[in-house]
Amino acid sequence: MTTRRRFLQSALGAGVFAAPLAALTDDALRVVDRARARLRHDDPEKIARDERYWRDIQSAFTIDRNWMNLNNGGVCPSPRAVSEAMRRYLDQSQAAPSYSMWEQLEPRKEVVRTRLAKHFGCDREEMAIVRNASEAMETLIFGIDLKKGDHVLACTHNYPRMLNTWRQRVRRHGIELETFDVPVVPKSPKQLVDAVAGRIRPNTRVIEVVHVANRNGQIWPVRDICRLGRSKGIEVFVDGAHAFAHFPFKRDELECDFYGTSLHKWLLAPHGTGFLYVRKDRIKDVWPLMAASASQDGDIRKYEEIGTHPVANALAIGEALTFHEGVGPSNKAARLRYLHSRWIKRLSRNGRVRLNTSDDPNQSCGLRLLDIDGITPTDVQEHLREKHGIITAAINGPKDVMGNRISPNIYTTLEEIDRFCDAVEGLLRA
Ligand SMILES: Cc1ncc(COP(=O)(O)O)c(C=O)c1O
Repeated sequence: MTTRRRFLQSALGAGVFAAPLAALTDDALRVVDRARARLRHDDPEKIARDERYWRDIQSAFTIDRNWMNLNNGGVCPSPRAVSEAMRRYLDQSQAAPSYSMWEQLEPRKEVVRTRLAKHFGCDREEMAIVRNASEAMETLIFGIDLKKGDHVLACTHNYPRMLNTWRQRVRRHGIELETFDVPVVPKSPKQLVDAVAGRIRPNTRVIEVVHVANRNGQIWPVRDICRLGRSKGIEVFVDGAHAFAHFPFKRDELECDFYGTSLHKWLLAPHGTGFLYVRKDRIKDVWPLMAASASQDGDIRKYEEIGTHPVANALAIGEALTFHEGVGPSNKAARLRYLHSRWIKRLSRNGRVRLNTSDDPNQSCGLRLLDIDGITPTDVQEHLREKHGIITAAINGPKDVMGNRISPNIYTTLEEIDRFCDAVEGLLRA
């Protein structure tokens, strides 16, 4: 374990603070800073429509424009500055790994931890850097003590891997998992809270809730569900794989004790990065996935005891945070909503088009589900990809959760959104 003293010693000895400064000179980061400096207004709604500004942001990526990637919900590309930083950290790791990676680079993760904690609004001693949301959530699901007959509640819209993790505990430990359905587009967030509240039993121990549902982008009323759970002594595990750095929020607005996310989605950090937040006084109640010593029982770093692993991905989270700060979390959310409003306005004129995501800004942001009457989601996906190079995600259930998930990103251009509309309209005419 890296102690604070050892971190400071090795940080100073290795000239730690030189590298983040070097990273800040990266072109893609300067592009963002210059673009921001040119802005003449600070209203996110106006910035969302400022094409000159977004042109600069688009140029910070090295994506292949012969594809149109509208499946950023799956996994995102990083801006050039992040990929370059990762390569640089990888090269530095190779110098003499047992020293350059473990002694010089690894301690710098503490800087990343501090910055992630600040963004999320928690203490750095509550922030574990993990590989993805799956690792974060499975740590919680496997790590909480439950006995035979204990009852767990989860919606069928939760991520399938997490439901499978619970099902494994059902088979192994005899707990009871109750999954429930909700309408694909609820009448209001309260309908979701009521769906949970109505199923609570005296033996309910855990509620697992998504912050943003992966299939249709529904934003769940996490704070109300956390309040509900706390009032009844039930743990609430929040799967925030799609929420962090997608739209602005802080831990205290959610009132949550447990939260897991991926950082290779909306933060645009390197692939294989995520975080697990556990409220300080609850760390001792959740076992790590891989064993740690008893002296670490109350230490958030026990969740990082996974043996030798690359440090380059984790360190380049720093550059992703700097990029994110440069764009501005509110500007990003406003831009994503603006991109969606453009295609929705045009395509929803057609009677065969159904939107399976709420348009209420409290209930959706960068992920929307488009269903076309008479054509299966898989056929739509294949047509768009094979004929137009447009990548979407076909969603087939459960129940009425059907359609193609459309998730542009801040590098998406208006011309691309219009070309996507042309392609869908062509399909509707065929
Ligand atoms: C709601 C939700 N949870 C968890 C995950 C798993 O994320 P990862 O594959 O990064 O672990 C996803 C992935 O899309 C997701 O949408």
